[in-house]
Amino acid sequence: MKDAEGRIRQAMNDADQRRNLIGLLEIMVSQGPARPGQIIDHLTNHSLATLHYCLVDWVNSQNPEFGRMLEDLAASDIMRRWLYDALNRAKIDHEFVQAKARSRVRTLYLAEIFSGIEDVAVPIGVINEETGLPNKVDMLYVCAIAKYLQSAKIFEFGTYMGRTTFYLAQTTPECFVHTLNLPVALSGEYAPYIGAYWERRGKPSNIHQLFSNSRELDVESLRGQMDLVFIDGDHSFEMVENDTRKALALLKPGGMVVWHDYAAKTPGVYNFIERFSLERSVFHIKNTALAVYRDGIDAMTFEAFHISDSLESKFYARADK
Ligand SMILES: C[S@@+](CC[C@H](N)C(=O)[O-])C[C@H]1O[C@@H](n2cnc3c(N)ncnc32)[C@H](O)[C@@H]1O
Repeated sequence: MKDAEGRIRQAMNDADQRRNLIGLLEIMVSQGPARPGQIIDHLTNHSLATLHYCLVDWVNSQNPEFGRMLEDLAASDIMRRWLYDALNRAKIDHEFVQAKARSRVRTLYLAEIFSGIEDVAVPIGVINEETGLPNKVDMLYVCAIAKYLQSAKIFEFGTYMGRTTFYLAQTTPECFVHTLNLPVALSGEYAPYIGAYWERRGKPSNIHQLFSNSRELDVESLRGQMDLVFIDGDHSFEMVENDTRKALALLKPGGMVVWHDYAAKTPGVYNFIERFSLERSVFHIKNTALAVYRDGIDAMTFEAFHISDSLESKFYARADK
């Protein structure tokens, strides 16, 4: 058993083998019960012939005892954890692709929705470099939208360090930002960091901090006043729904709601927005995890602004339109 574990651990460390195995697991998940006929059909019918050949080669090159080793290892801790994570990721990605196929969310480039926004200047401090995520520019876009729309009254669900809040507060000289977070004592791992971005800079006087669970937030005193509501708090389906209903109540006619984390890794946000889009149309900003609703604008019939053709646009055809 120990020996088998060692060999599998080695295989898992080999990038090619790992990639092939993940490919196989994804297919098994997308096809339901892993029947060999279905898997082969899928491989040959879905332009995955290369993967098919790789897998055949890979399986063929395994030690004859490979099947027994896998069985032994399926019961072991390393394998169980690894398989669980791989299957779970594959399942979430699969649900994401399926939901996307039914979607009434329209994906466009930022400048196709907001003509001329590329000339809006926002301090690069708004980017949280430490996330290392490919979509770390999302907050730059949120602040650019606020500035583009000259949003004077802004409400944010989820303060965390207050980095985005700080830059939203610079949108216009007279703008005012309300930012809501769970009380520090109830913020768990976020607790030491709530508002930490203002420690060295001082909290701008046009930021008003609210501490409560958004479930208990009473919107009456601010009803109908916000130009922009940014939703980035609890990412569960139920709480994104709660925050969205409250955001709509806070919104001025013609106002805008922006959600963060419309992505496969946060299915609560993703699934809620997909369902919400059946009620009110929504844009997704291409290459970001941002979704946008604008009161009075139908995303499905909206005429996208023209952006320059480029060499890249030929390769990355705008298939999402
Ligand atoms: C992703 S962070 C917000 C990031 C921030 N908007 C930014 O741009 O840097 C989520 C924050 O929401 C807060 N939060 C989570 N659940 C909440 C709830 N039910 N009500 C209010 N705040 C909540 C967390 O404490 C955390 O600080």
